[in-house]
This record gives sequence, structure tokens and C-alpha cells, in this order.
Amino acid sequence: MYIYNHYMVPNKSLRVLIIGSGGREHALLRACKASPLVAAVSVAPGNGGMEQEAVCYPLNVSDTAAIVALAKKLDANFVIIGPEVPLSVGVVDELEAAGIPAYGPVKAGAKLEASKNFTKEFLVRHKIPTAQGKRFTSSEEAVEYLTSQKFPIVIKADGLASGKGVIIAEDFDQACTAVYDMLDSGCFGKSGSEILIEEFMEGEEASIMLMVCEDRYVMLPASQDHKRVGEGDTGLNTGGMGAYAPAPVVTPEIERRVVSEIVEPTLKGLAEDGIRYRGTLYVGIMITAEGPKVVEFNVRFGDPECQVLLPLLKTDPVAVMYACATGTLDPKTVEFHDGSNIIVVLAAEGYPGTPRKGDVISLPSRIPAGTGIIHSGTVREDNGTITTAGGRVLGVTARGANLAEAAKSAYALISQIRFEGMHYRRDIGARQLRRDREV
Ligand code: AMP
Ligand code: GLY
Repeated sequence: MYIYNHYMVPNKSLRVLIIGSGGREHALLRACKASPLVAAVSVAPGNGGMEQEAVCYPLNVSDTAAIVALAKKLDANFVIIGPEVPLSVGVVDELEAAGIPAYGPVKAGAKLEASKNFTKEFLVRHKIPTAQGKRFTSSEEAVEYLTSQKFPIVIKADGLASGKGVIIAEDFDQACTAVYDMLDSGCFGKSGSEILIEEFMEGEEASIMLMVCEDRYVMLPASQDHKRVGEGDTGLNTGGMGAYAPAPVVTPEIERRVVSEIVEPTLKGLAEDGIRYRGTLYVGIMITAEGPKVVEFNVRFGDPECQVLLPLLKTDPVAVMYACATGTLDPKTVEFHDGSNIIVVLAAEGYPGTPRKGDVISLPSRIPAGTGIIHSGTVREDNGTITTAGGRVLGVTARGANLAEAAKSAYALISQIRFEGMHYRRDIGARQLRRDREV
């Protein structure tokens, strides 16, 4: 249950439209359903799980005019944008022009995710710690540069590539292949017509999500995603196979450094550059021997991190989002629960390559208290059965007094879920669980 918010938003006054179709948006929908402020909530385009809880409308999420038209048709007075694509094409600018408050940054702010070179230049200009990097549009010049570099090295497509546009090249040959694939063969289309070649940072990664209202912000507990498909962090990169929060690898000392060396200079830099930033700022950090450095910014909640973070908020997350969107955030009023949350992603056969689709999902009839099943790539058939329709199919969440308890409950619930080809990592949070056992 959320504690009543401190903003002057009357109960049952918001008619919310959520844009997106993943697990993140399903978690946002659950938060809306639990919020006393929300009178009605719809989703576009949604998924099989969300359809059981709200009306879903078909939508191409990069069509900003269609989003504005749908919001008007539904008489929505608050729109929550889940994914980066509509933000990067300026949906919030257009919704605001139509007088509809929306959670998420304007197009100029969304560039922090939509262009890695823009972000690198921003970080360097504002003296924020990050890996050294250089931009290229010519493969010849990029390869020439590589001849004098150390390996591994990181090659990044400049634009959005669904989390797949980053190659960690172990040697010169692999790096050249990545350069040619992106710049000459166009494997990421326009997103890879410009690249960033970046120094490899050694360390442990963590995600810090901020809910930002210009110079004010709420910092959510640190979380850790598991990007590789295989146990022990092996295999290909994915959108994320599981997460937990809080992540104690971000110690109070590291958190202080993240605030003073990264968060505050970033928000100050955005203001100096004339960018009015409201919405989530996801700071991906590498905890290196020299301290925390920025790996990437995202301009929306992480998926699956969102699914473990929203339930840690004691304050109504809808109230916080609405306050950010309308310029009224008072960070002092935001409180968190104790304990840990975990999510384990259940993926389809073939993921992160082409996933197998259309398999019937068998779900438990009873979901124990403190656990949950979040839908991502699912559809609801006309006869009511839920079938697989994407790479990341479901996310199983659990909450516990500590991470060990949360993990035990999540894996117990997973043992009751089945679909053909289902695979998942059995080691979500394992690194932290080992550390917990050592102390
Ligand atoms: P990005 O899309 O920039 O977050 O990159 C995807 C993943 O690649 C990150 O989550 C890291 O695991 C890895 N990565 C990106 N840049 C670097 C870097 N400079 N050094 C080491 N690993 C990196
Ligand atoms: N889980 C990583 C992301 O959302 O980008």
C-alpha cells in the first residue's frame, strides 16, 4: 500500500495512458492500479498480461501524432512513456504542446540515450567521469585509430539499437569486423552510420535510477541487471535477464561519489545546456578502481530494473512521476521500504536471437503473497490462453527481508511456470548472495 502523496493531486483525478508493451510497462500499470490518484488507466500497445488488467489499444510507439490523438480520445490527463523510442522522437514535446502532462524527457533530453556521441561530448564538456572515446564515420579512419589502441576495446553504434549496438572486441580483428559491420555493411542501419570507439572499463556495473524534475531528483535504490544470457555472465548480451535491488555493491561511499561526481554535474550540465529534463534518468555506472564512471545514460526506467524498483517505493510512484512531469517534485517527501526485491526473466527459446513464438504458457493458479508475475512478450488469444510472443516472455518478482529470501521465493514460483523452450538464469543476484554469505 502506498502512503498518501504530499502533492495537491486529488484522489481519483488522473486518467492515465501508459505507452509501451514490456515488463516495465506492466509494472507501471500495476503501480497505477494501486495508486489512489488514478481514476482510470489504459495502455498502448500493451501485452497479453496487461490486457487482463486494463484496456489496451494498438499503437506504433514511434508515431507521436498517434500517441497525442489517442491521449486526446481517451481524455487522458497524464501520459507515462515507458520506452526510449517515442521519447527520442519528441512525444513529450508534442503532448505538452497539446496541454497533456507526460512523464519522460523532451526530445533534447532524450538525446542522452539516442546518441552515444552526443552523450560522450556532454560528459567530457561537463567533466563527468567516463571512458575515453572518439567518434568516427569513416571505417578507414576508425581502423587506423585501432592500430594504436589497447584491447579489449568497445565499439558502439551511435544511435538506438535495442541494447545490441555495443561490441566488446577482444582484439584488433574483432574490432575491425565491428567497425566494418556498422559503418560499411550498415548492420544497425542509420544508428550505426556513426560510431563511438571507447576505452574498456574494468569493474562491476550497477544502475542508478533518478526520477528527475530539473534540478531536483529522487534517487532510487541502486540495482543490478544481468545482461548476459547465460549463467556466470556468459553468452550474448540481452535486454536484461534479471535484476535485484537494493544493490549493496553501491556502498554509501560510492553513492556519495555518484551524487557529487556524476548526478549533480549532469543535472547542472543539462540546465546550462538549456535542456529542461523531467523524467527518469538511468545512470549506468562502472565501479572502477578510480571510482564510479558513466557507462551510459538511458532516459527511461530500465527493464527489468523498473519491476524491482517501483515496489520499493513507499510513496506512491504515480504521485512522484506526476510531480516530476508538472514541475512540483519535493524529494524530501519520498520514502522507501526496507528489504530486497528480485526479478528473474523467463525467456523464449532462441533469445537473444530470433525467439520461438506461439507456445502456450502454463501459469500457477495461486500467486503467493510478496511474489508476482509480470508479462513482457506475451499475447492473449481469443480463447483466453496466454502464449509467447517475444524474447523476454515473463518476469517473476519476489520481495523478501533480504535478497536470499527474495530469491528463494522467486525460484519457487518459477518451478510452477512452464512453456516450451523456456530458459532463465538460476544465478540472479548470486554474486551479491556470495558476498552476503561472506560477511
Ligand atoms: P551500453 O549500451 O553503452 O550500456 O553498453 C552495453 C553494455 O556493454 C554495458 O552494460 C556494459 O556491460 C558494456 N560496456 C559498454 N561500454 C563499456 C566500456 N567502456 N567498458 C566496459 N564495458 C562496457
Ligand atoms: N536493463 C537495461 C535497460 O533497460 O537498458
